[in-house]
Amino acid sequence: MKQRILVLYYSQSGQLRDIIDNITADISTRADIDFAQIEPVVSYPLPWKASKFFDTMPETMQHIPIALKPLSAEVMNKDYDLVIFGYQSWFLNPSLPISSFLQSDDARILKGKNVLTVIGCRNMWLHGQETIKEYFLKIGAKLVGNIVLTDTNPNLISVLTIIRWSFKGRKEASGLLPAAGVQDHDIKRASRFGVPILRHLEENKLDELQKELLMLGGIHLKPGLIILEKRGVKNFRKWSKFIREKGGPGAPERQGRVTMFKRLLIVAIFILSPISSFTAFIQLQLQRRSLLRDVEYFKELNYEPGKF
Ligand SMILES: Cc1cc2nc3c(=O)[nH]c(=O)nc-3n(C[C@H](O)[C@H](O)[C@H](O)COP(=O)(O)O)c2cc1C
Repeated sequence: MKQRILVLYYSQSGQLRDIIDNITADISTRADIDFAQIEPVVSYPLPWKASKFFDTMPETMQHIPIALKPLSAEVMNKDYDLVIFGYQSWFLNPSLPISSFLQSDDARILKGKNVLTVIGCRNMWLHGQETIKEYFLKIGAKLVGNIVLTDTNPNLISVLTIIRWSFKGRKEASGLLPAAGVQDHDIKRASRFGVPILRHLEENKLDELQKELLMLGGIHLKPGLIILEKRGVKNFRKWSKFIREKGGPGAPERQGRVTMFKRLLIVAIFILSPISSFTAFIQLQLQRRSLLRDVEYFKELNYEPGKF
């Protein structure tokens, strides 16, 4: 009998779906694969209005759920051998549709299941994945693998291109800037993961899957990004509380604070970023050993509370 795989994902632009289509390309006829998309009742617009984009940070940071469309009864009632769970980071957390799903009734579909996470993001996914591990523990899902595809351009370039993509809807290269998002060739090369995933599933050796995925280059992580992400999470936590003191999503009373956050983020990225990268570089030299241990930890699947 064919292995039954559910691909459960959210994707605003279709990039995550494209990644998963490539991962499953070589096994699509050898396994019984269903796709189910997590869909907000009110979908997020692309391009974004800047005000809506930044106003989404506090609830994303604090995992305040939005309403989602239910999964079909057919999917909910089928028994799957593996779930491929595709998601992206928003403001250093799982995107709001994803954290909403994990708190919803439909999340019971993951209970007792083997789950492989696939992340497609700019380059900051560590805090998001720690949060996913916590949700899986609560739900009773077993994390059996993790593949991460990021934009491998330098940090500042990837910020500029994601701004162009998010606010103008232009993913393709323009002027001196490259295309936004995960590079096309990396998306296509994701097809190399499919056969090993299916083999481990068929041979009942999912415990060894992550080792093979890492050998295939399933995760690249620069230690410097751990430092930058930890700083970011601290700040976003403070700002999310500060903004929510004035009201919920879209409340006129909080727009002053949302604008302050937006300006500060822009200053932090474009003006303080060289200083911040320099201090991160010094910290990297001083804490190299513990950071390399962290790199190993984040590439693996176990969960140690308190990393952030
Ligand atoms: C509101 C928002 C916030 C984002 N924040 C992050 C982030 O913190 N870290 C990151 O690596 N990428 C971030 N991204 C990029 C996404 O993770 C993702 O790569 C991009 O939105 C494309 O995903 P899609 O498949 O949903 O279209 C953000 C995107 C959006 C729209």
